[in-house]
Amino acid sequence: MKIKVFFILLLSFVTALSFMGCEGEVGPQGIQGETGPPGPTGSSGNDGEDGQNGAENCLECHGNNQLITAKIFQWENSIHNLGGTYERNISRCAGCHTSQGFLDRIATGGMEASETVAEPLPINCYTCHSIHQTYTQEDWALTQSDPVTIWLTDQTADLGNANQCINCHQPRIPGDGIPATDATGDYTITSTRYGPHHGAQGTMFLGQGIAGAYEIGEGYSNSLHTTLLADNACVTCHMAPLMDGRAAGGHTFRIATEEGDLNFNGCAECHTEEEAETIVTNTQAEISTKLETLAGLLRGIGILNPDADRSVPGTYTTVQVGCYYNYIFIVEDQSLGVHNAKYTRTLLDNSIAALQ
Ligand code: HEC
Ligand code: HEC
Ligand code: HEC
Ligand code: HEC
Ligand code: HEC
Ligand code: HEC
Repeated sequence: MKIKVFFILLLSFVTALSFMGCEGEVGPQGIQGETGPPGPTGSSGNDGEDGQNGAENCLECHGNNQLITAKIFQWENSIHNLGGTYERNISRCAGCHTSQGFLDRIATGGMEASETVAEPLPINCYTCHSIHQTYTQEDWALTQSDPVTIWLTDQTADLGNANQCINCHQPRIPGDGIPATDATGDYTITSTRYGPHHGAQGTMFLGQGIAGAYEIGEGYSNSLHTTLLADNACVTCHMAPLMDGRAAGGHTFRIATEEGDLNFNGCAECHTEEEAETIVTNTQAEISTKLETLAGLLRGIGILNPDADRSVPGTYTTVQVGCYYNYIFIVEDQSLGVHNAKYTRTLLDNSIAALQ
């Protein structure tokens, strides 16, 4: 007790001293006190989100239903897998020719992939489906279901599930441009590959006013396919129920087998097989004849290479260049009128008339 009093006195003395302006040294830090008793229990937290990676989700796709195996088996017989052009992997080409380049281009909204794709893959499940984004059935959603901008005319098209296709199956903008139908005078082309790049099917199907073709003359309209099939377009015919195992249809994306036999399963809603066979034969024969007539005129002018469907660089009239563009457009479409018979027919008739 006496010692405690002594210390209190000493402390007051030291405090008094410091008030007198003579500061002492700071003393050493005291020892830490004991831990106090535990506090009261807090209120319960919010419920967590449902887990996404439950194995039962995996099994819906990876179970023993052979779902993925079946689609892979078909896809293996597709030109997307077999075509071999996935090694076109520089940024300008990779946006359509490689899986990674496509997803990159779609993410940035540009016309090209941002860079060369180092380990290029052909178009595969991951290109078209949102695989392993949520690990649920929603991952079958297409990677590009939004309406698509047609680059040539800067217009928007909506073909349902076929939006996935026309992102790539549309032409790039040619370096030498496309003449306007109201332009006159001379037009110079510098490339031996003037015209739309392969993959003109999307724009041919869409047709009048949006295709970017040289619509010279009058009388343009679209085949009823363009409106009647607008919901699913390409998918209706090219992904129709399978034919002969995996020869055509489904995830082969083929309308024709390796041997050239057509799969009419997608036509059944509107044409009997017999009718479809007849109209395809007739339409293709008619369009081929007209194409040959136009080719003859273009060779005569000197703008079409006599040995191949290539252009001869040079200066021509605007009309000659426009009609040449139409020729290559119809050749590149490859369907010889099936995609859009009326539009193809009028483009050919009017181009032939303009050059005669
Ligand atoms: C919507 C269907 C779907 C779901 C759900 C799904 N996967 Fe997949 N998975 C696929 C597809 C499609 C492929 C690609 C198949 C191919 O190209 O060989 C794949 C490929 C794989 C591969 C092979 C390696 C790879 O990445 O290509 C593994 C491993 C895998 N999945 C594991 C899982 C696991 C684990 C889950 C659950 C957490 C799961 N998957 C959920 C569809 C699915
Ligand atoms: C990522 C771009 C891309 C998408 C998406 C795409 N394609 Fe293709 N498609 C191509 C390319 C590139 C080729 C040529 C591949 C090759 O030859 O290596 C091709 C080839 C084809 C062929 C074979 C062409 C031939 O000359 O024999 C058909 C048919 C086809 N695609 C239909 C479709 C359909 C239908 C869809 C939509 C369901 C679709 N494609 C989606 C880029 C694409
Ligand atoms: C807008 C998408 C797109 C871009 C960009 C693109 N291609 Fe293609 N390409 C296609 C499609 C679609 C096909 C298949 C169409 C068909 O068979 O009718 C194709 C087909 C090809 C073919 C096969 C043609 C044949 O006759 O078998 C070659 C070669 C090719 N492209 C080279 C290139 C090169 C080189 C580049 C870059 C300079 C390029 N492509 C850029 C869409 C594209
Ligand atoms: C070129 C684009 C493309 C590629 C590549 C592709 N698919 Fe598809 N897939 C589609 C389209 C488009 C549909 C919708 C078809 C329809 O509307 O009938 C579809 C439908 C499906 C369905 C049915 C989905 C559902 O909602 O029930 C499955 C399963 C499927 N694909 C699996 C695969 C697998 C596995 C691969 C890889 C081997 C693959 N796909 C590659 C475009 C593609
Ligand atoms: C009404 C049915 C139908 C629709 C819709 C359709 N196609 Fe075709 N497509 C055909 C037929 C038929 C051919 C010619 C096949 C032949 O003569 O070998 C063809 C040819 C093609 C070719 C040339 C390679 C081949 O398989 O012969 C490509 C590539 C192609 N179509 C892509 C597309 C794309 C992309 C779309 C959507 C914009 C589309 N098609 C819409 C029926 C259709
Ligand atoms: C949703 C209905 C529908 C489907 C599916 C359909 N077509 Fe058509 N198609 C029509 C109608 C209607 C016409 C004729 C009207 C018009 O365009 O003048 C037509 C016209 C055509 C023509 C052009 C005839 C001409 O020279 O003017 C061809 C060729 C053709 N169809 C082939 C096919 C093939 C092949 C398939 C399947 C791979 C198919 N169609 C699927 C409705 C359809």
